[in-house]
Amino acid sequence: MSQERLKIEVAKAALKRVEDGMLLGVGTGSTVNAFIRELASSGIRLEGAVSSSEATTGLLREAGIRVVDLNHAGDLALYIDGADEVDPHRRLIKGGGGALTREKIIAGASRRFVCIVDESKCVKVLGEFPLPIEVIPMARAFVSRQMVKLGGRPELREDFMTDNGNLIIDVRQLDLIDPLKTETRINQIPGVVTCGLFAHRRADEVLIAGESGIRSLSSE
Ligand code: A5P
Repeated sequence: MSQERLKIEVAKAALKRVEDGMLLGVGTGSTVNAFIRELASSGIRLEGAVSSSEATTGLLREAGIRVVDLNHAGDLALYIDGADEVDPHRRLIKGGGGALTREKIIAGASRRFVCIVDESKCVKVLGEFPLPIEVIPMARAFVSRQMVKLGGRPELREDFMTDNGNLIIDVRQLDLIDPLKTETRINQIPGVVTCGLFAHRRADEVLIAGESGIRSLSSE
């Protein structure tokens, strides 16, 4: 099965978690794009959606779904989003699309976070995928030096600005054996908006599409 097909299958599986009248948090990326397409043709009538990026906002509006500001939403029942890497403890690396900060805010504001991936995203230990870090522009060089001190190899994402007007540094070769500790450590560096580790607020459920169907990693 192609990766595109797997994304559609996992998007369909995620729809089973969505109910009429929900105010839904919606992530960013190609898997979420497949989810929005499935949602649009599902007949489910949401109260609205809280969006994690300008790109997702555009797609939600095209699909006729009302986009609601998080400040007017309160806590959300459910957040659906993809990931760049998933470990067996449902901890994630996100931010390949640069939307990590808004994604982390919505994940934090949601009672349940369901992550949707194809099996190529599953790893034993996080860190094959370079860790994205959103930084305030004036802190770019300073934060990069701190990453070198942590053993990483930082690289500025060329010609890229986040929806918040900031930069992304992608860091290779970091030791992420203890992602909770590393997330805390990186997020404390002045100038870091947030890093793409979702360990403190990990997924509650990961739906994984593979050749043999959909598998669920869950706390329940
Ligand atoms: C966006 O910033 C990311 O966190 C995405 O959730 C992640 O990159 C997954 O994207 P794909 O579904 O396109 O692989």
